[in-house]
Amino acid sequence: MATIDYEQKIPNNVDLKSDKKLQRALEKWQPDYIDWWRDMGPTDFNENEVFLRTAVSVDRDGWAQFEYVRMPEYRWGIFLQPDDSERTIPFGDHMGEPAWQQVPGEYRNMLRRIIVTQGDTEPASVEQQRLLGLTAPSLYDLRNLFQVNVEEGRHLWAMVYLLHGFFGRDGREEADELLERRSGNPDHPRILGTFNEPCRDWLSFFCFTTYTDRDGKFQLLALAESGFDPLARTCRFMLTEEAHHMFVGQTGIGRVIERTCQLMNEHPDRDVKELGGIPLDIVQRYINFWSSSSNDLFGGEISSNAANFFGTGLKGRANEAKLNLDHKALEEIYSMEVWEDGRLSSRDVPLRNAMNEVLRDEYVNDNEKGIIYFNKIVERHNIDFRFSLPHRRFNRRIGMYSEGLFDLQGNPIDQATWERDKNALLPSREDREHVASLMKPCHEQGKIAGWIAPPQKGIDGKPFEYEYVKL
Ligand SMILES: [Fe+2]
Ligand SMILES: [Fe+2]
Repeated sequence: MATIDYEQKIPNNVDLKSDKKLQRALEKWQPDYIDWWRDMGPTDFNENEVFLRTAVSVDRDGWAQFEYVRMPEYRWGIFLQPDDSERTIPFGDHMGEPAWQQVPGEYRNMLRRIIVTQGDTEPASVEQQRLLGLTAPSLYDLRNLFQVNVEEGRHLWAMVYLLHGFFGRDGREEADELLERRSGNPDHPRILGTFNEPCRDWLSFFCFTTYTDRDGKFQLLALAESGFDPLARTCRFMLTEEAHHMFVGQTGIGRVIERTCQLMNEHPDRDVKELGGIPLDIVQRYINFWSSSSNDLFGGEISSNAANFFGTGLKGRANEAKLNLDHKALEEIYSMEVWEDGRLSSRDVPLRNAMNEVLRDEYVNDNEKGIIYFNKIVERHNIDFRFSLPHRRFNRRIGMYSEGLFDLQGNPIDQATWERDKNALLPSREDREHVASLMKPCHEQGKIAGWIAPPQKGIDGKPFEYEYVKL
């Protein structure tokens, strides 16, 4: 079961060849996917060989193999964690019943919506990042970008398999639409806000992979608990790939900070901007933007949808089955600060209705750890600057806090204060222009752009100087 059948047109470990109808449907979708990749995937580099990892097994150890591949020839496929026939639904009203191997009829629409919403984010991120190869700071970074891109493409495959395999005709229609919406297109946008935000420079890319991919991690953790077993199993394998995306983001921001600190120490009386670096306060504002936008992806604080997703057993809490919790979550309450009539007060909410907030709590905790990592870098360089994570109320577009204005500590502020301070809180036009001015490609083997430090090590035991992309 764990071995992937690479003999097939669509590599898979779900014995696709024994389901001819499904196989035919997916093989019909495959060329449309490749067309989408050529239109909306990375520009210009489709003929180049890239040192990519490909999944060859779903075993925890040795699941990936590294080799040179042209991106359109990447073996996108369908890989599920092996099935555990004993598995029961770990939470909600159906707790203890055998996990569903087919879509439970009464929850069909809700489940389809969950899968489509997750699926839509995958191609969206590829679209957002499509031009970044042109300005990569090194071959190592170029390769990492493409690794993330092909794996997001595979995540789309993961969701499309579920739509085709379990939802019949409307599933096939949804799969087609996943290739039709476009990130940032005003007439036909992607479903969620952050996935329509432009990602024009590499600092945005590193923030995206840190904060937005980490949202992805928590959504996948919650869906990996699903009572719908094929969804749980596909999300488990996606999580294995996802870890690298956040690594790219976290170490990417870290390397920008590292380089800026070096420049500050080498030239204490000069402006980092003139030295071709990215000032730390600009990095902080990019963090403020992407982390706050990604906070929105968890949805409203008090949510009947969240309660339904949990009650029906479709979407749990992160690591639900492993944790010692009341898995029905019927009696407990969650105390949160609510924003009502222009002021903050505290309210007790039935726990099920607060499940978005519960997941966001975990996410915020993880983000805080990332900030500690950034601050260790500035401390190491004896620089008097500390990063911080903006409060979850800051700069929201979704949920109750979107009704107010808040500073980075989460205190309410008025419109005049917001207008006065916003260029210190979020990336200003000048900030973006400065970052954009540094975005010149450094595609020479072994070289790196001046605004970022090289990584501590390369990929798959190779040195930084390795020819990660053959240009
Ligand atoms: Fe993904
Ligand atoms: Fe990702």
